[in-house]
Amino acid sequence: LRVLLVTSEAMPLAKTGGLADMVSAYAAAARDAGVEATILMPGYPCAFARAKGVTRVCALPGLPGGDGALYRARMPDSNAPVLLLQHDALYARTGFYQDEHGNDYADNALRFAALSHAAVRIASGVRGVARPDVVHAHDWHAGLVPLLIAQARNAGTTQARSVFTIHNLAFQGNYPMWMAGQLGIPDHVLGVDGIEFYGELSFMKAGIQFADRVTTVSDTYAREILTERFGHRMEGVVAANRHKLAGITNGIDMEMWNPAGDPMIPASYSNEDMRGKHLCKRGLQQLFGLPNDPFAPIVAMGSRLTTQKMADLAIESIPMLLERYPRLQFAILGQGDHGIEAALRHLAQQWPDRIGLYIGFDEQRAHMLHAGADILLHGSRFEPCGLAQIYAMRYGTIPVASRVGGLADTIVDCRDPGDAINPMLIRVDGVRTLGETLSRLAPAPTGFLFDGESRYAMAAAVARALDAFVRPALWRELQRNAMRGDHGWARPVAQYVAVYATLTTVKPARHA
Ligand code: ADP
Ligand code: GLC
Repeated sequence: LRVLLVTSEAMPLAKTGGLADMVSAYAAAARDAGVEATILMPGYPCAFARAKGVTRVCALPGLPGGDGALYRARMPDSNAPVLLLQHDALYARTGFYQDEHGNDYADNALRFAALSHAAVRIASGVRGVARPDVVHAHDWHAGLVPLLIAQARNAGTTQARSVFTIHNLAFQGNYPMWMAGQLGIPDHVLGVDGIEFYGELSFMKAGIQFADRVTTVSDTYAREILTERFGHRMEGVVAANRHKLAGITNGIDMEMWNPAGDPMIPASYSNEDMRGKHLCKRGLQQLFGLPNDPFAPIVAMGSRLTTQKMADLAIESIPMLLERYPRLQFAILGQGDHGIEAALRHLAQQWPDRIGLYIGFDEQRAHMLHAGADILLHGSRFEPCGLAQIYAMRYGTIPVASRVGGLADTIVDCRDPGDAINPMLIRVDGVRTLGETLSRLAPAPTGFLFDGESRYAMAAAVARALDAFVRPALWRELQRNAMRGDHGWARPVAQYVAVYATLTTVKPARHA
C-alpha cells in the first residue's frame, strides 16, 4: 500500500508547529506497519540542507508559478523517504509562510497550488517514482490535492484515491476568485457546490469537498467543527461532508520525546527514577535566568503566541498568580503575534526574578522546558489535537489546559485534589491498595482542565494544580499516571489504515 503524504512541513526539515511533528512521526510509524509512506513537501532551502542523500528525480515543468523539479531524499531520523519539490522562485525564502515582518507572502496561493499539482503529477505517474494508491493531503496547503485528484481520476490519468486531514480549521487558504486560472483550478468547480466560500475560493473547502475521506486529529475536534463556535464558518461544509469524516487522535514520537533517553535535556529520568528531573529543573532555571530554587514550582508555557493558544489571557492571569504564590516561577518559550510578544516582554521586565522569557523557536529549549517544569499551562480557545500537553505528560510535567478538542481527549482531569488525596491512593509497602485498583478501572487523572475563556478560570485551574503540587503523594501519583500514558502511534496508524482500506483493496505489506 503506497501512500503519498502531502504537507507543507515535516520535522526536522521544516517546522512551525505540530503539523511537522505529526507528519514525520506518522510517516515513520506507518512504514513500521508496512505502509509504503512517502512525504512530499516544498523544497525549502533548510529542507534541502537537512535531508539525507538528496538526488534529482526529474523535472516538473509547467507548474503554477513556473517550472519545478523533484528530488528524492531520506528523513534524517527515521530514514523515511521524502520528495522535495524544488521551485526556487516559490520556496527559496527565509520564512515558510511569512516574511520577516510577519506578513503572509503575497503568493502563498501559488506556492501551495504548485505543491498540490506536483502531487497529482506524481499520482499520474512520473518516471522514477512509484505511483501512490492513496494521496493523503494535510491541511489547507494541500487542499487542492483532493480536487485535482478527482479531476485526474475523471480524466483517467490516475487511479489514486484521496484522504484529507484537517489539522487546523482556522487556517483555510481563502483567496480571490480571479486567481483560479493561475492556480490551475478549472472553472466548473468554482461554484458553491465546488470550492466557492463566501465569495472566495478556498483551499480548505476544496480538500473537504473533494476528498474521498476526511479526517481530523481528535474525536472531540471532529464533533466540535460541526458547530458554529469551532467551525470558523466552515461548519456547514463539514456537516455536508460528515459521512466522510473521522477523528483520529495523533500519536507522538515516543522515542524522540522520552525523558529516559533525550540527548537534548541535562539529565535522564523515568517513572522509576525521577532524580534526573531535579537536574532538569535546575537547568531550566539557569537557561531562563530564574533563581535556582529547587522547591519553587515552575509553570511552563511553550507554544505559538497567538489568541488560539490563549496567550493574551495568560498575560492577564500570570500577575494574579505571581502575587498569590510568592515562590512561583514562569518559564515561557514562544513566538507569534508581535503584540503578544511585546506584552510578554513587558511583563517579564516587571517580574524579572519570576518570569523567564525566550521569544523565538528553539527545539532544544522546548525539550528542556517539558523536562524541567512542573506544570505546563496550555490554554486554547480551540485545539484540534495539541501535542505539547502530551510531550509534557511524558516528561512528568502536569498540564493545565482548556477542555477543548484534543486537550479534552488526551488529559484526564483531576477533578478535586482534595478527594484525590484519598489515602488509599498512597502505596503501602508496595502493595496495590484498593484506591490503586479503582484508579485502574476509572481513568487515572493526569492534569487539570478548565472551561471557558476567562483569566479567572485559567488562574483558578493553575491554582488547583499548585495546591496539588504541595502534596507530594498526590503529585507523584499524577506524574506517574501522566508518564505511564501510551500515546504511541500503533492505534492511530491502525485507524488510518482502516480509512485507506475503505478506498483501496491494496493492503500494507506485512513486516516482521
Ligand atoms: P500547534 O501545531 O497548534 O502549534 P501543537 O501542540 O500540536 O500545536 O504543536 C506545537 C509544536 O511546536 C510542539 O512540538 C511544540 O514543542 C513546538 N513549538 C511551539 N512553539 C515553539 C517554540 N517557540 N520553540 C520550539 N518549539 C515550539
Ligand atoms: C495543528 C493544530 C494542533 C495539532 C497539530 C498536529 O497545528 O493546531 O492542535 O496538534 O496541528 O495535528
